[in-house]
Formats: sequence, structure tokens, C-alpha cells
Amino acid sequence: MQPKSQKYRCLASLSRFAIVAIKLCPSFLGFVYCHEYQADVCGVGSHFYKGIHHVIALRLFARDAIFRTGLLIIVLVGNPCMVRSTRADDVGSLKLAVAGRFKIGVGTNRDLVDHPQDRALLLRHFDIVTPENCMKPQVVQPFEGDFRFDLGDAFVKFAEEHGLKVVGHCLVWADSGKTPSWWMTENGQPTSKETLFRRMKTHIQTVAGRYGDRISEWDVVNEALSDGSDGYLRDTLWARVAGEDFIVRAFEYTREVAPNALLVYNDYNVDTDGKRDSLIRLVQSLKQKNTPIDAVGLQGHYELDAIAYEGLGSMLEAMRQLQVKVIISELDIDVIPRSRWWADNNRHRDELKSSNPYKDGCPPEILQRQAEQYAKLFELFCRYDDVVERVSFWNLHDGQSWLNYFPWDRVNHPLLFDRNRMPKPAYHAVIRTVRQSILKASHLEELPSNAN
Ligand code: GLA
Repeated sequence: MQPKSQKYRCLASLSRFAIVAIKLCPSFLGFVYCHEYQADVCGVGSHFYKGIHHVIALRLFARDAIFRTGLLIIVLVGNPCMVRSTRADDVGSLKLAVAGRFKIGVGTNRDLVDHPQDRALLLRHFDIVTPENCMKPQVVQPFEGDFRFDLGDAFVKFAEEHGLKVVGHCLVWADSGKTPSWWMTENGQPTSKETLFRRMKTHIQTVAGRYGDRISEWDVVNEALSDGSDGYLRDTLWARVAGEDFIVRAFEYTREVAPNALLVYNDYNVDTDGKRDSLIRLVQSLKQKNTPIDAVGLQGHYELDAIAYEGLGSMLEAMRQLQVKVIISELDIDVIPRSRWWADNNRHRDELKSSNPYKDGCPPEILQRQAEQYAKLFELFCRYDDVVERVSFWNLHDGQSWLNYFPWDRVNHPLLFDRNRMPKPAYHAVIRTVRQSILKASHLEELPSNAN
């Protein structure tokens, strides 16, 4: 069954078609000839001249009739097509709504190739794509010197063929579990600083060098900061062996082979208290060392009712002061809060593992709350659109989200489009917010400078 709003849109479209058709019909009945051409051209004069005038009028009428017939055919054929093509997503395009403010992107995978419907949704709404997994170090270089580019190449080719920009994700993932194990040991011992840097340089320059300007933004280092307020860098071999220097070097190595790309440091929960200070400290320090960092990526994996708007606002403000761009790199709002998974020494895991509250659909009141919270986020992004460079969602629609599996299996609903790729209340709230903020901004521009 079609949703209500869609039926209304179809009806509106059909009635528009009927009005245009009715307006065009008289020309075929000859009224136009009688009333417009004959009167205009014939005017006054002798019968002889009137005869000539009738010929001219007829020719003009014939020419115009051909034009109107063409128009009628376009309306007859085109309008029902429009109704059909808008059925799946009869909605304004996200990328057009935010155009000129920030780029809008999505993290995705080979579903694009396998599911043409996903492709249509992607192309309608987004301008830039991040490969969800296929460019990560474990995939690209699972063993030293064994580079595997088939998936990454296919991803970049797909993007190019469809006019999409690409974010490379990611060159270094500074979490021990996410770095291939060969990288971390040398002759059975922890890798020395020199070897760590040499391996990092080879990896970065082989990968980023391969794509050159075909990749416009790179997540150079992912998740190097410690969680909570108990530390600065995450306790890994990276930090133990090289401190902050490995981050500096990673950016320098990348800049050498990607001179035009936007270079990003990417992390999660950095709008929460402890981690926010760590990120600000890191950026300040990198800037002092003239590290070529252009932007910070705030992953934005939020949970319903737990979004730290204030923290996010002050992060945006701090980056504005530091003249570093902000990217919301992996946005979603989990409707089945997951923090309890890690709380109280993992005590709730057994209970949570069997919890799947919205497996038959998400209750409307939850979708509404999610919509309001997405709207508040976009209000903030629009307010800081001089700083926000891009907003990317993590996955295209609810059926594709990683939150259906992480940290336990459940049917989740974190994105703007549902499993049928239809827009959710959150989608409409985002579009409305962006449009309202544009109106607000243009209204302010029009106010005289001394207006209160
Ligand atoms: C982190 C990473 C992403 C991805 C998500 C989960 O945010 O940066 O690459 O792995 O986790 O999908």
C-alpha cells in the first residue's frame, strides 16, 4: 500500500497534468485560430488582403499547433513518468537542500553494486561516498607488502562513473585490534619506532599515492584518542612507541602524495567531556608543529536522547577558533541505546543479547523523537556552516546500518531512510531544518545593518 503522503502527491501531480491538458486543448479545436490569429493578422482591409491575411494566419496557426502538440505530448508522456519515478523517493534531494553549505555524504559498501535501488537513493541524495571497509589497513595490506586494491579500485571507479567524490577511509587505524598484527611486531618483539614509521610511510604512500587526486579527502588517522577523561592517547603500541609523533608523521606522509586532498583526523565521542579536551589538545599541538591537518572528523554515532549538543557546539566553536574544518563523518542515531553493553563490568550483556524491541517496526513516537534530534543537530551544523565541511551518514538506509549488528544483533532504525528506502520523519525534519535556516539567513541578510 502506498503511504498517505505519496497518494496525495500522485493526486496533486495528476491534477496538475489535467489543468495543463485542459489549457492546451482549445488550440486543437481551432479556437486559437479564430480568436488569436485571425483577429491579430487580418485586422481591417479589403477582401483581397483579408484572403492573404487568412493564409498567413493559417500558417502561423499551423506552426504554433505543432509546437503545442509537442508540448502536449511532453505533458502526456512526461507527467505520468514523473509520477512513477517519484514513487520510491518523491522527496527533495538532500544534496540540493544543503548545497552551498556543506557536502553531504554516506559511508557505504558493495551494496551499491548489488542493489540498483540503493544506487538510485544514493545518487539522488548524496555527493560524496566513504568506503565502509574496503580501504582499511587490514583489507588493503593484510600481510606486509601484500597490497589488495581490487575492492578499493572498484569503489573509486563506481564513484567516478557516477559523479561522486570519494573519502579515503582510513590510512592508519590507531587501535591495536584494528591494525594488522604483522605491523606491530618485528622478529618476535614489539616493532621499533623506525620500523613502525617505515611501515606506515610505505602503507600510506602506496595507498594514497595510488589514487592521487581521485580521492578528495583522507581520514589519515582514525581513533587515536583514549576514551573518557583518563588519558590522552589510546594505550596502543602506536602511542607507546611513538607518542603523538606517529600522528604528525602520518599527516606528513599523506600530504607528500596527496597535495590537494583534505586531510582529516577522525574519532568518536569527541563531543563528550573528557575526549573533547583531548581532541582540542591534539589539534593545538598538531598546529604548533605545522602538521598538515585540515579537518577533524567527529564520527557522530549518537544514541537517542543522549546527544551532547552543548559539547558538540563548543567543539564546533573551538575548531572555528583553531581554523580547522569539522566533518561529521559517520552520523547515525541509534534508537536502541547501546551504552549499557559496556556498563557495570559488562554485566548486562546476556540480557541485551536477547533484546530486540523494534523487530516489527519502530514505534512512531520513537521515530518522532529521532526526527527532532536530527533536526537539532542540523540546526547546529547550519549555524556553523562556515566550519562544517561535510556531513556523512554511516550507511544509506536502516537495513544497511552497522547498528543492526553492533554491539549485538537487533533490528535497528538509525538513519533517514527506512528498510524500503523510504524517507522517515527524520528525513523530513532535516530537510525542513535546512530550508528554514536558509530562509532565516537570507532574512537576516536583508535586514538593514542598524536593525535590532
Ligand atoms: C568506526 C570506524 C568505521 C566503522 C564504524 C563501524 O566508526 O571509523 O570505519 O568501522 O566504526 O561501522
